[in-house]
Amino acid sequence: MFRFETAGESHGECLVATLVGLPAGIPISLQAINHELWRRQQGYGRGGRMKIETDSVEIVSGVRHSQTIGSPIALIIRNRDWKNWTEILPVEDIEGGEDKKKPMTRPRPGHADLAGAIKYNFQDARYILERASARETTARVAVGAIAKAFLAQFGIRVLSHVIGVGPVRLERSVTWDEIEALAMKEDVLLGCVDAETEAKMKEAVDVAYRTGDTIGAIFEVRAHGLPPGLGSHITWDSRLDGRLAQAIVSMQAVKGAEVGCAEEQATSYGSKVQDTIHYDKRERRFFRGANKAGGLEGGMTNGQDVFVRGFLKPISTLRKPLESVDLATREPSLAAYERSDVCVAPAAGVIGEAMTAIVLAQAFLEKFGGDSLAETRRNYEGYITQVREF
Ligand SMILES: Cc1cc2nc3c(=O)[nH]c(=O)nc-3n(C[C@H](O)[C@H](O)[C@H](O)COP(=O)(O)O)c2cc1C
Repeated sequence: MFRFETAGESHGECLVATLVGLPAGIPISLQAINHELWRRQQGYGRGGRMKIETDSVEIVSGVRHSQTIGSPIALIIRNRDWKNWTEILPVEDIEGGEDKKKPMTRPRPGHADLAGAIKYNFQDARYILERASARETTARVAVGAIAKAFLAQFGIRVLSHVIGVGPVRLERSVTWDEIEALAMKEDVLLGCVDAETEAKMKEAVDVAYRTGDTIGAIFEVRAHGLPPGLGSHITWDSRLDGRLAQAIVSMQAVKGAEVGCAEEQATSYGSKVQDTIHYDKRERRFFRGANKAGGLEGGMTNGQDVFVRGFLKPISTLRKPLESVDLATREPSLAAYERSDVCVAPAAGVIGEAMTAIVLAQAFLEKFGGDSLAETRRNYEGYITQVREF
């Protein structure tokens, strides 16, 4: 089983991840991982933090001579901001340290602040927000980059694009080539393939900026080149649709996931929204009339592109703060404001890619196994021959 854990706090020393269960022999490039980290930091609407951090990964175990060796992989991404926080969040108490603390006693509605402080029995929310922060997703993106490197060995690619910002919605279908071209761009605005729609999205973000507000968004993650048969219909927890939805909703601020065109299907008729089945006798292969199911039927990949969408609520920290209560005095008070993002749509798409790549790599390894890449490949090719001969 391929699994991973992350550790690290927003203003701590670093973020850390460990990965277990990947076969030996996967080519790994630090530059490719760093490029994914760079992509996570882009986009119009980000706050000041992304200007401080230029993330880069260090791998301290499990990769030697540019390939995985089968041992657990451990990686670190240092927080450049740590130098400003060493006395505020020391590991060991320091003399006079009490005065240096930065207590956060005015919990923000929509954040982990109040529920976390009550649950972990802290009189201020500092330690809670340090871990609840989406800074943690830096580690997920690094793990996702390794999962992507594994999937790429089998011609599988995972990318994303933004289909909605506030009230603005992309109203047309998008090809894989368009998503690929978008991923090559150096100047990321809002991650939408359609320039006209993207300009309207930017206007919506500008309104939020001007009024001290934040704005929600929808991103779509697409996986290309998948074989049919990853995941299974046989048990609730092997269904890939459910596993992908969990992975997407596990992201900070993502409050919903849509598998395929779920909303369109739920508001339509069965005769209109299923992907009809056809057979090309010359090519001797099945093909579909559409892809409304998002490449998943019965919890299994069906060989079409898989796509899932993530619904981001507007960021909870507002420059014009919401009503709250001060934990120290129990008096009404405005929620705390710390430097914050206004819209995180394209970055969330990149994190969604990482989560999707991780789940797909897990499902792939469940099906094909292997301690070495050569073994995984043999098993995969045997299955692909079986599918061709079906
Ligand atoms: C890429 C990304 C960046 C985020 N940046 C911020 C931010 O700057 N300020 C903030 O209040 N919340 C931010 N969030 C959202 C919070 O982390 C999240 O709302 C909070 O941890 C509570 O979790 P929940 O919204 O999932 O319940 C961000 C989320 C993502 C995905």
